[in-house]
Amino acid sequence: MTRTVAQIETGSGTDELSRDDYFPTLVYSARLHDASSMNKEILAAINEEREKDQKGIERSNFRSLGGWHSQNNLHKNPKFKRLTNRTHKLLAGISENLGYDSNTRLEITTMWSIANPPGSSNRAHVHPGALWSGVYYVQAPEGAGQIDFTDPRTVQIMNSPTFIPNKRRKTECWSKVKVKPVPGKILFFPSWLYHSVDPNLAEGDGPESERIIISFNINQKRKSKS
Ligand SMILES: [Fe+2]
Repeated sequence: MTRTVAQIETGSGTDELSRDDYFPTLVYSARLHDASSMNKEILAAINEEREKDQKGIERSNFRSLGGWHSQNNLHKNPKFKRLTNRTHKLLAGISENLGYDSNTRLEITTMWSIANPPGSSNRAHVHPGALWSGVYYVQAPEGAGQIDFTDPRTVQIMNSPTFIPNKRRKTECWSKVKVKPVPGKILFFPSWLYHSVDPNLAEGDGPESERIIISFNINQKRKSKS
């Protein structure tokens, strides 16, 4: 949408300076209102998975960075149904907001959990084969690593402007965004958007010091006729 951002005085009249914002990078978020009871359920279900899946450590995106990574089919496990149902409701909101075909729906195609004990992190990556990806924070102690999104328009590093020092840049001029993990928060972002997770700097080494998330990939599917 074109909008006027300034009136430029020319001496003999005024020129209107307008701006259009094309190709934005959309990140949706929500805070689940029933997060504390939801998270208790999910944590118990994740712990069950961890007990029977000791190999999870090898699935981490870089083993040397630590962390446990579950199988990627948790959306088929009835113990996670409350979260998958809720996620699908939020995804319907995104479909509507973006004007997607109402004969289609956004559907979770893979879903997994990652537990990062203090010191562990995840390197920058994208999620091939998906349209949208998401993360839900189950447990995030103080100091748990933030998620970093990086401006996908990498050609911008060819030349960058200098901004007013000590002044917060406008959102549209950011090249990196850090989002603090908060239990009960869910984020949805385009699967092509590079993201990484900072090291977990939480104190202690007990189960409460871990940063625990559920992550998912999402695709657009045609609604089945019933
Ligand atoms: Fe990811």
